[in-house]
Amino acid sequence: MPWRYKSPMNWSDVTPRADFVNRRQLIAGAAALGLGGPAFAKIAAAPSKYSTDAAPNSLEEITGYNNFYEFGTRKEEPAVNAQKLTTDPWAIEIGGLVERPGTYDLADVLAGQALEERIYRFRCVEAWSMVVPWIGFELAGLLNKVGVQPGAKFVSFETLMRPEEMIWQDYPILEWPYREGLRIDEAMNPLTIMATGLYGEEMPKQNGAPIRLVVPWKYGFKSIKSVVRIDLVAEQPKTTWNMMNPQEYGFFCNVNPTVDHPRWSQASERRIGSGLFAGRQDTPMFNGYGDEVAALYSGQDLAKDF
Ligand code: MTE
Repeated sequence: MPWRYKSPMNWSDVTPRADFVNRRQLIAGAAALGLGGPAFAKIAAAPSKYSTDAAPNSLEEITGYNNFYEFGTRKEEPAVNAQKLTTDPWAIEIGGLVERPGTYDLADVLAGQALEERIYRFRCVEAWSMVVPWIGFELAGLLNKVGVQPGAKFVSFETLMRPEEMIWQDYPILEWPYREGLRIDEAMNPLTIMATGLYGEEMPKQNGAPIRLVVPWKYGFKSIKSVVRIDLVAEQPKTTWNMMNPQEYGFFCNVNPTVDHPRWSQASERRIGSGLFAGRQDTPMFNGYGDEVAALYSGQDLAKDF
């Protein structure tokens, strides 16, 4: 297996035993409170050469500090409000410039895709960061399954629209549904995954259950949650934050310490958590994934294409 070239680690190798025990207690506690504990199911996933060996944030941090505006704008709201979301049944409509368009049940989406654990750095445009042990598969695998037509230059994604459960969709805080997009070469890069879980279990609802995008070299808002629609298109698609404020949020949104947000510096970040690695640290170009992705942007002025 060529992807095993450097001893990859699973989260359980780098998470102290005490955290593991706490996590179990948390899940048991959540079950007692009816917060969906029993819904967690173990997922078998292979380790990956793309995983960082940085220590992951705790499950409490990853599931308690979220951006998911469909469920509220404060970081602690999604953990409570997202529990309403019905995630089974779930299907993704895949269309546009593809050979086999259609509505694919989640099981069909997953069929034939190799699940891996990807421990990725995750950098929000708001200048905080985490390390998350995602479970997922390469988006390229899904796109190849449906067959990309030569005219497809971009991929667009949409989140579910269901105001009965996504309570903030009744308010125009963003233009709903949440939309994101990638250029086709970015979508096909092996770092780009569709994630269906984290910490070895099904995706918590506040993190984008049952399936979300994760693009680790871009600011977190590109990593759209609870995806129900994917289209292969010829033109650059509309994306939520870019439509909201094009001066502040571009289409590419690559993590870039040399291009500041108009209202704050992007040179450093605050690692969420109170452990050994907490505090401010310098932000690396492409969030540290330059070896894998810098070539995608050769010849592009990333100050202009921010
Ligand atoms: N996807 C949807 N549908 N709605 C959102 O509000 N927020 C984005 C992104 N995906 C968002 C979304 C932002 S700003 C970030 S930083 C990440 O999700 C946060 O992911 P996390 O809560 O799993 O850390």
